[in-house]
Amino acid sequence: MPPTNDIPRHIAIIMDGNGRWANARGLPRRDGHRAGAESVRNAVETCRQLDVDFLTLYAFSSENWKRPQKEIDALMKLLERFLREKLPELLQQNVRFQTIGKLDMLPGKCRQQIHKAETDTRNNTGLTLILALSYGSREEITDAARALATRAAAGEIDPADIDTDLFSRHLYTANTPDPDLLIRTSGELRISNFLLWQISYSEIVISPKYWPDFRDADLRAAVDEYARRHRRFGTV
Ligand code: FPP
Repeated sequence: MPPTNDIPRHIAIIMDGNGRWANARGLPRRDGHRAGAESVRNAVETCRQLDVDFLTLYAFSSENWKRPQKEIDALMKLLERFLREKLPELLQQNVRFQTIGKLDMLPGKCRQQIHKAETDTRNNTGLTLILALSYGSREEITDAARALATRAAAGEIDPADIDTDLFSRHLYTANTPDPDLLIRTSGELRISNFLLWQISYSEIVISPKYWPDFRDADLRAAVDEYARRHRRFGTV
């Protein structure tokens, strides 16, 4: 049996169930997102303690733009406030902050805050926290194909040289290793257009808990399950 690394180098999470968490308590959906933001803080802390290198969180999908404007506004405000309040802590914790997705769709204030957090934490060497915002994997793959086609048309690359490695380097995640562990909360068995290329060999753990209830012990349990799996990468 090949050796397994007990701690995943990169964890990706589909944070699902904020709305249902709020509904179950008779609260507005935005309260579910607020409680979800607490779970984000919690996940960052646990990943730091476990010495995980990368944590990618699906915070807003390209499909989420179809939600009611009121909910979109609440989510954007929450994101902006989270980054503003959390930045000193990220700096102090040596966390490097990055994003993937079509950021030009986000409100200006949000983009400014993101830019500041990315710039200020650029040289940090601890956990890299990546938020997927206005992100869709099919869009990402299409963008990569277009970039390669443009380069080929300009004579910069030979189409015969396009392989999986070169393709990967044209994705938003060009400088990030693929996730070892993908977690989805709230019991849904779907990938929902998240990192389709990158999770080809990831171990998947589904938690029945809603995201606001998913805390330290749950993340550690998912990592324990990951460590128990026999990772074969298609070999015997
Ligand atoms: C899914 O719950 C969650 C989201 C659409 C967004 C995730 C956002 C947060 C965790 C809060 C803000 C994030 C940061 C980084 C501060 P859902 O609304 O789809 O839940 P439902 O399926 O129960 O309706």
